[in-house]
Amino acid sequence: MGNNYNIAVLPGDGIGPEVMAEALKVLDRIKGVSNISCTTQEADFGGIAIDNHREALPESTLKLCKNSDAVLLGSIGGPAWENLPPEQQPERAGLLPIRKELGLFANLRPAIIFPQLTAASPLKEEILHGGMDLLVVRELTGGIYFGIPKMREGDRALDTLVYTKSEIEKIAHIAFKAAKQRKGKLTSIDKANVLTSMVLWREVVTGVAKEYPEVELNHMYVDNGAMQLVKNPRQFDVILCGNMFGDILSDEASMITGSLGMLPSASLGEGSFGLYEPSGGSAPDIAGRGIANPIAQILSLGMLFKYSFGRKDIYNVVFKAISKVLDKGYRTKDILTPGCREVNTSEMGTLIAESL
Ligand code: IPM
Ligand code: MG
Repeated sequence: MGNNYNIAVLPGDGIGPEVMAEALKVLDRIKGVSNISCTTQEADFGGIAIDNHREALPESTLKLCKNSDAVLLGSIGGPAWENLPPEQQPERAGLLPIRKELGLFANLRPAIIFPQLTAASPLKEEILHGGMDLLVVRELTGGIYFGIPKMREGDRALDTLVYTKSEIEKIAHIAFKAAKQRKGKLTSIDKANVLTSMVLWREVVTGVAKEYPEVELNHMYVDNGAMQLVKNPRQFDVILCGNMFGDILSDEASMITGSLGMLPSASLGEGSFGLYEPSGGSAPDIAGRGIANPIAQILSLGMLFKYSFGRKDIYNVVFKAISKVLDKGYRTKDILTPGCREVNTSEMGTLIAESL
């Protein structure tokens, strides 16, 4: 169709700009080998935006995102902004509002272990049996992250966990549709034995299941789910969670793949627009040392093509390019195992771009 896509690029803080540079190398290569034309435009977001514009999510950045077809985000936050009041810090004043403002209620976090990396996983080989491939579907604009009231009154502080039927239905449909296209298994995570909002969660998910007879649904309490994930991760296909449980379980799942630096994510709303970011943070402790793993950022770019531009083929090509580089034994520090060759952030990005 000769489309020209606009991508808003928000490198952010910490390792964000380092891993973003590698994703942009890969994007250039994709443009070079395909007939896709896309334009990128960068903007400040997070701590750097606080420094340059006095706010984590400047109006101009939000406007750029709204006028784009997709957003590629690095990561934000770090010790430089930790002394600000919590509600002005990059996470609370940047990341949560951008998700809310853009209506991105569905967060997809695929945790896939590359067979070459089973030795980097903290789980034993006999538990992994050479693989794990699951998708965490996390509700992203509700739950305890956004519930009102949220306040501090001296020695008493409070957050509110609230979900409505329609919020649960919307995210459940996304999860069931994903399961239908995968292995047809959905595990819904809740805490219905304690929390009223989670009783509703379980009820609504069970109701939505009737529209997807081909998907097998089971329910798990979150504590059991966290345990089952390390005991037998292969039992899972799609895991459906509310905002906070999804935050926690996606970090756990990512570590099983070898490193937090391997986990991409897509945040989607009603249409094809989406925001794509690594699930890990800005890792200020390793920023500027050239050792960050750019793979999650590069896979996030792959997801952008798949979900926002309908180009699953490009996602597959990116995935294969990464796999080929791992086959040759190249590893960043976080996934380095004996017998492999350590490369830095930039070398890893170049290797992946070249193998495309
Ligand atoms: C994530 C992060 C964020 C979240 C933080 C930085 C606000 O942990 O994307 O998983 O909790 O959603
Ligand atoms: Mg998290």
